[in-house]
Amino acid sequence: MTDLDLRLARRVAGSGDELSAILSLVNTPGLITFSGGFPAHEIFPAEFVRDLATSRLGPAAPVALQYTPTEGLASFRDALTSWIATSQGVAPDALMVTSGGIEALQLICRTLLDPGDRVLVESPTYLGAITAFSGFEARIDPVDADRDGLDPESLAAALAEGPAPKLLYVIPDFQNPTGAWLSTERRHALVALARRHGLLVVEDVAYRELGFTGEQRPSLWSLAPDVVVQVGTFSKILFPGVRLGWAAGPPALIPHLVRAKQNSDQCAGGLGQWLAESFLRDGRLDAQLARARATYAERWAAMSAGLSKHLGPEFAWSEPGGGFFTWVTGPASLDTAALLPRAREVGIAYVPGAPFHPRRDTHNTLRLAFSATTPDEIAEGTRRLGLLLGAGA
Ligand SMILES: Cc1ncc(COP(=O)(O)O)c(C=O)c1O
Repeated sequence: MTDLDLRLARRVAGSGDELSAILSLVNTPGLITFSGGFPAHEIFPAEFVRDLATSRLGPAAPVALQYTPTEGLASFRDALTSWIATSQGVAPDALMVTSGGIEALQLICRTLLDPGDRVLVESPTYLGAITAFSGFEARIDPVDADRDGLDPESLAAALAEGPAPKLLYVIPDFQNPTGAWLSTERRHALVALARRHGLLVVEDVAYRELGFTGEQRPSLWSLAPDVVVQVGTFSKILFPGVRLGWAAGPPALIPHLVRAKQNSDQCAGGLGQWLAESFLRDGRLDAQLARARATYAERWAAMSAGLSKHLGPEFAWSEPGGGFFTWVTGPASLDTAALLPRAREVGIAYVPGAPFHPRRDTHNTLRLAFSATTPDEIAEGTRRLGLLLGAGA
């Protein structure tokens, strides 16, 4: 292909491979991977899936194995609506099924963003969201956040500057990558600001159900369904193999997202929708979530102990109350991207911090996921990490 002059579109030129690099490490033998936000495979409900396929797929096949409506199977949307109503206290007026949370973000971008439009994000934030917004040539402006999540004062300052942003993207619960948990007070302040400025908030609830204690704070969408579109996923609470998510929000917006989906994959897979619906209707999600919370709490305890034991006083890390991640900050001399090849040699993987910042303006931070490694692996992995970072700092 050396003669081919590929004239790449502006929206793909310069885009990084960080996400594919993370996904390519799944199940690599011998590697202790703290890199991807992968759920614990030990708690996948494999027996349920097997029994469902054996005993119930036959009569369901005409629906489960067929194309589905673009907005999702009506019966699955009903089951999802009931679960959201129970878990968040409000039933969505408008809801669509998507092929994962990331597709919901893509549909929002496709529907709302023209090149150069301004998007506000917490900094750091989910790499996939940054990739999605840059893929639509948005101008991404960072808003400050701390352990209590996005800072409303910093948001107010960003809103005072022009041009008016098209949207604000926020992960209120056990944020990716820092684990921050937006305080209830800030939730109210944030939606009040959004209403005052006519700002659309995109709330990503990927880790909402995965607080270690099960305690929850009101979702932004439940506080202000008129200005918040919620993006959810089954990847972290069921398993990513179903590639299923949802968008719930202002009834004026959702039909546009459905229209955009016609120009994407046209419909999410029926088999996954049927499976997730069966899981919800059989009342299995509560038990699954209880197992997930206990598993991730145990893994975080192991990681917290390992970091305390193996990282020197020049390192600091966040202390999440749920989710999959902690965010490590080292001394100014540390270059976590440059250390990656050495990390592979010693058999560990992490994600350097730069791609989580829209301006990539950090070199001494990194994200660790504790979700997909056992406590024993975490003990050994943090030992190796301590040696690596100690030598690299
Ligand atoms: C905050 C956040 N949102 C969305 C996603 C994407 O989830 P899905 O697998 O449903 O596309 C992830 C996955 O890592 C995530 O961390």
